[in-house]
Amino acid sequence: MKVLVTGHAGYVGSVATMVLAEAGHEVVGLDTGFFAPCHTEGMEPVEPGLSLARDVRDVTAEDLAGFDAILHLAALSNDPMGDLAPELTAAINRDATIALAKAAKAAGVARFIFASSCSIYGAGNPDLLLDETAPVNPLTAYAASKVESESGLLPLADATFAPTFMRNATCYGLSPRVRTDLVLNNLVVSALSTGEVKLLSSGLAWRPLLHVRDLARAAAAILATDLDKIRGQAFNIGQNDENHLVRDIAAIVAEAVPGAKVTFAAGNTIDPRSYRVDFGKFAAAFPDFRFLHTAASGAKELVAAMAGRTAAEDLTGQRYVRLARLKHLMDKGALAADLTWRGERETAPLTVKRERVPVAGPSITQREVDLTAEAARHAWFENHAKYNLRFEAMVAAQTGRKHAISLAHCTSAIHLALAGLGIGPGDEVIVPECTWVATASPVVQVGATPVFADIDPVSWCLSPASLAAAITPRTKAAIVVDLYGGMPDWARLEAIARDAGIILIEDAAEAIGSRWRDRPAGAFGRASVFSFHGSKTVTTGEGGMLVTDDDALAERVNILRDQGRHPTSRALITEEVGFKYRMSAMQAAMGIAQMERLDELIAMKRDIFRFYADALDGTPGLTLNAEPAQVFNSYWMVTAVLDPKLGLLKQQVAAELGAEGIDTRPFFYPLSWQPAFRSQPSAAGAATRNPVAYAISPTGINLPSGYNVTRAVAARVSRTLKSILQRHARRAA
Ligand SMILES: Cc1ncc(COP(=O)(O)O)c(C=O)c1O
Repeated sequence: MKVLVTGHAGYVGSVATMVLAEAGHEVVGLDTGFFAPCHTEGMEPVEPGLSLARDVRDVTAEDLAGFDAILHLAALSNDPMGDLAPELTAAINRDATIALAKAAKAAGVARFIFASSCSIYGAGNPDLLLDETAPVNPLTAYAASKVESESGLLPLADATFAPTFMRNATCYGLSPRVRTDLVLNNLVVSALSTGEVKLLSSGLAWRPLLHVRDLARAAAAILATDLDKIRGQAFNIGQNDENHLVRDIAAIVAEAVPGAKVTFAAGNTIDPRSYRVDFGKFAAAFPDFRFLHTAASGAKELVAAMAGRTAAEDLTGQRYVRLARLKHLMDKGALAADLTWRGERETAPLTVKRERVPVAGPSITQREVDLTAEAARHAWFENHAKYNLRFEAMVAAQTGRKHAISLAHCTSAIHLALAGLGIGPGDEVIVPECTWVATASPVVQVGATPVFADIDPVSWCLSPASLAAAITPRTKAAIVVDLYGGMPDWARLEAIARDAGIILIEDAAEAIGSRWRDRPAGAFGRASVFSFHGSKTVTTGEGGMLVTDDDALAERVNILRDQGRHPTSRALITEEVGFKYRMSAMQAAMGIAQMERLDELIAMKRDIFRFYADALDGTPGLTLNAEPAQVFNSYWMVTAVLDPKLGLLKQQVAAELGAEGIDTRPFFYPLSWQPAFRSQPSAAGAATRNPVAYAISPTGINLPSGYNVTRAVAARVSRTLKSILQRHARRAA
């Protein structure tokens, strides 16, 4: 059949055109385009091959020549819109409907399926199931327009013209142009975007529900049946089992959205529209028809499609709320008060422009800006060392160390710690498998041999047992990393190092502000190093610091960082080959401002971790950074390690989060696997020797942890991550 679908670019029409085309009909659309740009995030409507951009009030008999049937969906659908302008609802929903039917009849169109509504039953007796003979009781302009349309259409029925009234239950479900001003859809988006299934009413009203696709399929069934069976007939469309109390719909939605809770808005009201409907007539007339959906399956389908793709503003904004859309078009002057276009139709799809969430980034206040500018003006001549000395004193005080030496970066600090301790060719230095390459590269740079040891499954830091097993007579030192702000079992590491007579160097690049028992990061081993890279908890843009209590080491580092010039050197005379690793005064000034704010910065980092921990609580198969009793974690980077049973690799999760505008970092790859280190002797067999690193690294991912991560950002990231996990769990099942 050749079928005209009016309102084809709306919520139901976008589905009905597809369903009718799938049923083999030649479908033509007609729509004025108010909601055409309102695409569901991530979905692209399939437009019918032919469509007319036309207001339903302007259709003539000539437009309708050659059609076998009309599915008339175009209407002002909102009850609140009806309240705002009842006369417009009457003009568009009733008068235009009757005029359209008359034009159709004149053009020889035999079938006219009208989308009426169960809302015509208004306040029904809750003890009764209302069938098509029940008295109507429309409580809104919308419902009244449907009652009056049916009355206006019925007299047109004759041998040549068969109007049929689909009294549809309240629709829900996924469409390429979804609406959130429908009860179930609204509650799903509320749950996804806020974690609350928020009822604005007391939820004690009855609502029969109908999936949008089942509505379209029912229309297809009506199209396929004899005219005599449907001429002038009204059918309630839905299923008796799908009469729900709104409260129960909320419970169904809460079930579909992990962690969501049902809440009631303050001052919630009683909704007078309440009706339970009998759908037996349609079932009897179409015994082969099967409804495919329930509220529960529809809620799950919406969650699968929309989780991570929706925000609280979708509950009120123009994209998914029809009244808001019309008001928007009127406010900007695109539509006149009678809802006719004044100018160009808007056609560009509405999609959200989401800010990308970066993986890391600093917290810079006016204080940092002012001090850095001050240094730029003053840190010259006799003041050239002033800011570095102050910054160094602050870090020394924070870590309880005697010496703090500011450097170009943490990599140079590690380099100078090794060089200053005289570590070189023939020596072995143990490093953990999972860390940034800068822990190990300087070992190679001084000519020593890095030896890769395993990490602990809980702290993700160097495993004491693996350290002990890696020690040989050539071992001079081990570099222990406080990974992502976490802390290893320092007591055992120190005991092992003491017994073996090896030096420990603490790579605290990622851990300023963390504590193990009462000792701060930076207080462990012969020397500790910090990074002030732009991604770090305390930043100077680039920068590093070495702290130590060892006077001799401090003296060597001071010499080596300054081209090998000794304190007694005369001008431009160099005693040995050194390095150029000083930090500039401007960087030190920024570091001072950051150290002044250290407590605040750590509190912010801990808040960010808490946001994620709350939002991801109860997510199966996901482990976040550990904070055992003896540790105070400054949570440089919130890190999620997935259970390998989920079958998801970090690269895949990163790609899917990336597609949603969320940047991440992979958990550090094992160093022994890195191309740069594969030829090191200890890389051979490392995958079997260091099973924890090789097991955790493939499924670990750093989540955005910059200082711009608010609770809302963490919620968005967490929702997206959870929906990725759910999608894959379903696929795997
Ligand atoms: C564990 C670890 N060590 C060393 C470094 C090197 O720090 P920088 O970039 O300041 O040289 C980093 C920082 O990226 C790090 O995370």
